Amino acid sequence: MRQAFRASLLHCLSDPGEDSRPSAHEYFEDGLLLVDDGIVTKAGDAAALLPELDADRKLCEFPGKLIVPGFIDCHVHFPQLDIIGSYGEQLLDWLHRYAYPAEALLADDDYANEVARAFVDELLLNGTTTALVFGTVHAHSADAIFEAAQAHDMRLVAGKVLMDSNCPPELRDDAVSGYRDSKQLIERWHNNGRLGYAITPRFALTSSEAQLAAAGKLAAEHPDVWVHTHLAENTEEVEEIARLFPSRRSYLDVYEHYGLLRERSVFAHCLHMDDTDRKTMAARGGAAAFCPTSNLFLGSGLFDLPAMRAAGIRCGLGTDVGGGTSLSLMKTASEAYKVLHLQEHALPAMRALFLATLGAAEALYLDDCIGNFLPGKEADFVVLDPEASSLTARRARATSSIDEALFALLTLADDRHVAATYVRGVARHSRQQR
Ligand code: GUN
Ligand code: ZN
Repeated sequence: MRQAFRASLLHCLSDPGEDSRPSAHEYFEDGLLLVDDGIVTKAGDAAALLPELDADRKLCEFPGKLIVPGFIDCHVHFPQLDIIGSYGEQLLDWLHRYAYPAEALLADDDYANEVARAFVDELLLNGTTTALVFGTVHAHSADAIFEAAQAHDMRLVAGKVLMDSNCPPELRDDAVSGYRDSKQLIERWHNNGRLGYAITPRFALTSSEAQLAAAGKLAAEHPDVWVHTHLAENTEEVEEIARLFPSRRSYLDVYEHYGLLRERSVFAHCLHMDDTDRKTMAARGGAAAFCPTSNLFLGSGLFDLPAMRAAGIRCGLGTDVGGGTSLSLMKTASEAYKVLHLQEHALPAMRALFLATLGAAEALYLDDCIGNFLPGKEADFVVLDPEASSLTARRARATSSIDEALFALLTLADDRHVAATYVRGVARHSRQQR
């Protein structure tokens, strides 16, 4: 199928940095996105491209709307959907009080499937077209999220959680069964259409040394699968890791020791780490998921984006629901701005957009196929409506540049402002159809 989408078009070409380098993005106020069989063939000015359109190309026009690449969530837990916004604890108590009981409910296959479908619907409602997703310890939780994503043709990476210690007995696997189940899931789902598998040790606190070693062995046997875990989120957690692994230099060193730090390793949070860790992470090709709503909500700390980027680490935004408080990457970007402001750093809107799109694609090593509108990329995109609420309509009229308009939108938007979400050129969510 040959399609053309007309609206304002905005995408990033590289990291705009703290000073928002203008050459890092392209903006077409009256733009046209050409898509052939779900693949972008061109993005440019409508005035230049419209005269060349063949009669057989289907034209969709979105006057007053802004098309950006589909948002990419670099870290989220689908089984925690129903405990989002749970009161009052920091990480370790929060896990025991809220997250683990919620995850135990997914022992039930039907419930796991229902939550996975609801979760994917929520992603699309928020303009998210790709995510790196934690399941639960149950192997069927990975089947559930992959099936739900496949039903919408989404590019999604997920894994069954590995956890065999310091957690409730009903949520434990063991080193042997965790390895075996993960391997079977890799064979079933990795590179199955747009899906990918992530070996998912929850964090070093909940895996025995035998399990971490088994996870590393599995990673070595499958060099192109992802590794997805948590790192240095909370000071109590970091102290506990130091106590459990006294011979390791740092928390990151634990993962490196077990072969879990490499290209396509994604670490959520990365709040309490030093420059040696940053250098090592960059050199090995590991990536960080910056999860501001979670970090503020759980009182974990402030992500140092400039230090991470200066070290050369790939970074994307993560919602970290249910520790995070929204599945919207626009709300997440807005909280990221505040986190950086508190540290006397800037986060211009273009850099926030980068972290939610191309930067996230780079963090996931998926920038060859998603993240912006260069020719050959998959046509995953969001149609944003700056006038979806009376307040944002007023605010939009008072802006005089795309940077200003984008910043106001990211700061004020919610899911009403996602007019439609397209996956490979097909509308998978549309407010008009609701
Ligand atoms: N660290 C280990 N497990 C979790 C989790 O489920 N959420 C968050 N935010 N941090 C974790
Ligand atoms: Zn998490």
